[in-house]
Amino acid sequence: MTTVRGFLAQATRPTPESPGRCPIQEVWTLGCHILQRPLAQLLASDTTESLHPEDEARWRDLIKRRTNGEPLAYLVGHTEFWSLALKITPDVLVPRPETEILVERALSGTIACGDRCIDAGTGSGAIALALKKERPGASVAACDRSPKALTVARANARALGLEVAFWAGSWLDAIEARSCALIASNPPYIESGDPCLDDDGLRYEPRAALDGGSDGLAAFAALVPGAVRALRPGGRLLVEHGYAQGPQVRVLFERGGLGDVSTHSDYAGHPRVTEGTWHG
Ligand SMILES: C[S@@+](CC[C@H](N)C(=O)[O-])C[C@H]1O[C@@H](n2cnc3c(N)ncnc32)[C@H](O)[C@@H]1O
Repeated sequence: MTTVRGFLAQATRPTPESPGRCPIQEVWTLGCHILQRPLAQLLASDTTESLHPEDEARWRDLIKRRTNGEPLAYLVGHTEFWSLALKITPDVLVPRPETEILVERALSGTIACGDRCIDAGTGSGAIALALKKERPGASVAACDRSPKALTVARANARALGLEVAFWAGSWLDAIEARSCALIASNPPYIESGDPCLDDDGLRYEPRAALDGGSDGLAAFAALVPGAVRALRPGGRLLVEHGYAQGPQVRVLFERGGLGDVSTHSDYAGHPRVTEGTWHG
């Protein structure tokens, strides 16, 4: 019978079934998930500890799926964003580290107690929950057009004990005029015809979370006028976008009536977040 250690030693070798390689850290993460034990315990397993054949088969299957490009977060059912443990299912985009830049930028301005902050297109709830964690006095609300995504976001809010109001709807349609201090959004922004949508990784994620229309800018074209109506004077709109979209998004912001427009880079140095203020 295979031992846990024996499996760990040979699991990263390519096989005819999985010709690619699964990084060793991910083999460990999948093992922790299957055996329901922390990493330190997995790595310290006794040399004689045998691996149950069912666990071995499940572990092999997950390694194969990971090697074929399925996101790790879908395989283990969770990920971390802004140090928050989030439940993740294939109904939501896997939150990306670069989206933390959006949260950082949002928090860099004043958010007073009672200020209304909106996360438009919340997916797993990542941005809204990070904002509520950092500014517990703010009134944070979030929408998504996908009811299935909202089920995940609500479950995350409950598990984290963070009070965020969620509603189903399109962008900022349901928001009262002049009611918001901050609107943050990481909308779909990939051009519909971009072949990367069918690449490993992205092809497993909801198309509605990624596809930004023929020019990739459809969501921004809806969010800017919505924000200009919903923001109170001094309120800010922040959006994440593709690394080459900064100039076009800035034009949409400026033509829409937002001022102090600026773009900020992600950890890889790519222009990633544009923000602007509605001065009234
Ligand atoms: C790129 S994902 C971002 C998810 C999450 N905010 C994050 O950063 O991980 C975009 C989200 O916008 C939602 N969405 C797409 N069109 C929408 C619309 N018209 N109104 C509201 N949400 C929409 C999708 O369902 C998806 O959850």
